[in-house]
Amino acid sequence: MSMMLLANAEEIVELRIEVPQGQVIRYDLTALCSALDIADPTRIAVETDGVRRGLITIYPSNPLAEVRPVAREDLVMDKAGRITVGRYHNGRPVKKRLFDVSTGSAQRFLLFGTTGAGKSRTLQLELAAEKINGIVVWLADLKGGQSVPEAKDNVDWPGDSLEEAILMLRAAVAVIEDRRARYSAMGRSAFVLNDPDPLLHVRIDEANRLLEKGSAYRDEGTYLIREIGRTGRSVGVGIGLAAQASHLEELGGSDTLRAMLKEGEVTLLRWSSSMMRQLVSDGLLPAGEQLMPIPKTLRARDLTSQFDVDEDDDEEDGPGTQGTGYLLSGPRPTSMMRHFRIGPISPSPGLDPEILALYGDDEPPRLEAASHKAAGEAYKARHDREAIKKLCDELRGEQPPPTAAAAATDGTPPSGGSPAATRLDDRVLAVLGKAENPMDAEAIFEAVNADGGKTVRLGSVRNALIGLANNEAVTRPERGLYAPA
Ligand SMILES: Nc1ncnc2c1ncn2[C@@H]1O[C@H](COP(=O)(O)OP(=O)(O)O)[C@@H](O)[C@H]1O
Ligand SMILES: [Mg+2]
Repeated sequence: MSMMLLANAEEIVELRIEVPQGQVIRYDLTALCSALDIADPTRIAVETDGVRRGLITIYPSNPLAEVRPVAREDLVMDKAGRITVGRYHNGRPVKKRLFDVSTGSAQRFLLFGTTGAGKSRTLQLELAAEKINGIVVWLADLKGGQSVPEAKDNVDWPGDSLEEAILMLRAAVAVIEDRRARYSAMGRSAFVLNDPDPLLHVRIDEANRLLEKGSAYRDEGTYLIREIGRTGRSVGVGIGLAAQASHLEELGGSDTLRAMLKEGEVTLLRWSSSMMRQLVSDGLLPAGEQLMPIPKTLRARDLTSQFDVDEDDDEEDGPGTQGTGYLLSGPRPTSMMRHFRIGPISPSPGLDPEILALYGDDEPPRLEAASHKAAGEAYKARHDREAIKKLCDELRGEQPPPTAAAAATDGTPPSGGSPAATRLDDRVLAVLGKAENPMDAEAIFEAVNADGGKTVRLGSVRNALIGLANNEAVTRPERGLYAPA
């Protein structure tokens, strides 16, 4: 069959390929798309055994364009402690481990992706699973409680500020110590699920806000997360972070996370180009492995002439790819997957009834009474907003003020002004200042939208670049590329 026929086939085509013995299979995704004349790269899946053999699957259209809604049955742990979170491109179920039954270990979870990739919804799916499986959850939703609003009454301790995240992490470390002492008094060497204690998971959404440079809590947050990652496993205390970060350095330093990543459940959703480069250089992805990039929408890229100037040409249509990603810690790390749909695909105001139904209306699992004392004052006060506010204010008083320089570059000034108020020009300059090489407008657009501030449009970034170039604040070392002046 000719290459053209493959690309236009109406059925799924599978090609098994191998290189001669002695050679290592390598491929270039873009070249492969070109050879097959396929403009939409999400129609091709390439998997290799990392040695000689590969399997190329060509779909008539993206096989993950639609996924069914998640059901409560999907989220009940199997004998190995896994839940089903979605589908691989070939229709197989994607299983994520909530608990390691064989070793009795609590898990660590990391969820990466750029803004809008589906981190918070994926987290919500995991939070629902935790409730269904009797896992106690302490959740810090660092976007002021807006990212996973339905979770509020469905977790044991909902928090929404950096300070409360620190109070939670401190309390979790205290529970670990308490459990350790109790278990050793019982002559136990391993954690036994629900005998007598439930699993406790601390979950932080937008963890980058806690751990990035310029955060007043970066050092303590990093330390506490590392402690939980290191000592919590054997006493049933797990930790999970969802973050948009292009570099592990932004998450409290790479060592902490690299250690967590090694044995954690790592999910990578849609990334920005700089993010992927960094993940490879951080050793998170083996250099030889390639992951098919995930476009924002399933519309083949148009080639637009510069003479058809239309400021609105960045308007995206076509179905979105939210929730699509790779489960790096699973058995098929390079197989594209998509999480089940949870709630409406287009953002909608108010609490979503479908998501609430997934949680169910029973009480969330609660921390065992034996650990209440260790969990301390903040735990006791967790449902009393006034008392929590007081504790948070006290904590803020303990912190040295963040440096002005850090506050100016990360787009989230800790005091006065909201990220939305940070000028786009400044955000663009901050992105360029951090980049090693000149960047094109699209890469700048992605990086600006990953900085935690207000989402902006490509057209606005282009306009800002033109203004900055006119003012000689940026230079154009090459056509289409920008660098700080
Ligand atoms: N699994 C999913 N099912 C349904 N909609 C989703 C899913 N993942 C993402 N979305 C849609 O995409 C939007 C952005 O997802 P979100 O989880 O808030 O992204 P992030 O936290 O990465 O910025 C959501 O408001 C929702 O409309
Ligand atoms: Mg989010």
